Amino acid sequence: MECRERRLAADLIALSSAEGLPVSEAAKRLCMTRQGLYKLLKQLRAEGYVAEGSVVKLTPKGRDFLSGILRDLLRYFNIASIRLVGRVVSGLGEGAFYISLEGYKRAIEERLGFTPFPGTLNIKLDPQYMPYRRYLDGLPGVVIPGFSNGLRTYGAVKAFRARVNGVEGAVVMPERTHHPTDVIEVIAPVKLRDALGLRDGDVVEVEVLL
Ligand code: CDP
Repeated sequence: MECRERRLAADLIALSSAEGLPVSEAAKRLCMTRQGLYKLLKQLRAEGYVAEGSVVKLTPKGRDFLSGILRDLLRYFNIASIRLVGRVVSGLGEGAFYISLEGYKRAIEERLGFTPFPGTLNIKLDPQYMPYRRYLDGLPGVVIPGFSNGLRTYGAVKAFRARVNGVEGAVVMPERTHHPTDVIEVIAPVKLRDALGLRDGDVVEVEVLL
């Protein structure tokens, strides 16, 4: 890491622990003077890492920078995957529509290396796995870019290779979401309900590769 980046990493990690606080409280939390924190925020706002406003908040660019650090740390600590457990649930039948779109289908083939079965298997996580599921919000994954088909635009999706009860597939989620749900969606080259004999309510284990 360059000197500037090392400094930025330290500053953003510190600020992430003060998110949501007004400057005076954040300064106390970070053992800084108010003037010192104002100066730092001004600089990081000008560079696009911190959002404008009365409370401390990182921008997507700031979060992306922290994501990179998280990835490096996971590698350093040899953490290659996380295990999530939940139950199969039915959705609204939208998965089949989205996954069948040429724009997503082709990108999934290119970036994940398989042709997806048209649909997503929805898995409602057991509550104790939610903290692990949040890791995925902080990591970049494999980006499936958004596209437009002339009628409307479809947002970027991020994917993490995964194994569902041992069968290869991927967890997919909108690239940016501030509302992590307890339902994850999985795509695979096969219809997982058939391959694994799954019905609504069955428990499945998803090993997500980071
Ligand atoms: O209705 P829902 O949103 O749950 O389903 P969908 O995304 O339209 O997918 C159609 C059906 O295939 C659903 O029953 C999914 O659970 C299932 N599916 C599967 O078994 N394996 C996949 N790789 C994808 C979907």
